[in-house]
Amino acid sequence: MTLLTLRDLPLWRDARPYLDVRNNDEHTLVAYGVAKMLLKELPEAAESVVLPAILLHDVGWKKVPQELLLEAIGKNPSRPDLVRAHEVYGVEIARDILERHRPEGVDIEAVLAIIDGHDTTRHAKSLEDAVVKDSDKGWRTTPHGMAVIRGWYGWSVAEYIDMVSVVSNPRLLTAPGRAMAEGFTASLRAQQSLSEYLEQ
Ligand SMILES: [Fe+2]
Ligand SMILES: [Fe+2]
Repeated sequence: MTLLTLRDLPLWRDARPYLDVRNNDEHTLVAYGVAKMLLKELPEAAESVVLPAILLHDVGWKKVPQELLLEAIGKNPSRPDLVRAHEVYGVEIARDILERHRPEGVDIEAVLAIIDGHDTTRHAKSLEDAVVKDSDKGWRTTPHGMAVIRGWYGWSVAEYIDMVSVVSNPRLLTAPGRAMAEGFTASLRAQQSLSEYLEQ
């Protein structure tokens, strides 16, 4: 089964040149996969809003100076203004892409409203917003998200578990999003204690 829908493939092609920073291309595709799973669990959420929004949510990072990217995110971010900046740039770029293609059945304003504030607001303005936020933040607990983020900061697995447990998982908004993130995190914790029981 293909990951991207036929409707979203042209959007991906146009978004890709904006996603070659901070591993955003891989992050976007894996988060899209998470979003498809969440949509199966939450069928009342409109996939025609969620999927284009997750595909385009981080295109704005391309316009933020690359050397500052890691200061904008992480456990103790020092540049929250840059997080807001990538949302504002992201809305502009995503509007351009969406208006060029005008994909059938996609409410462009609803998609843009989600991109605007996806990181700087904690509460969801709609179920679709909650699903996008949980796909984005829930990605951190996936094997892919963990490998990427640990690499950025040189964190041990224990430090990583601490970060997602304290900063990330408590902010998830949907029951399936929380279940996925807590499940991955619980499996990591269990893995950390294997030697306690298996040492001879
Ligand atoms: Fe973002
Ligand atoms: Fe993201």
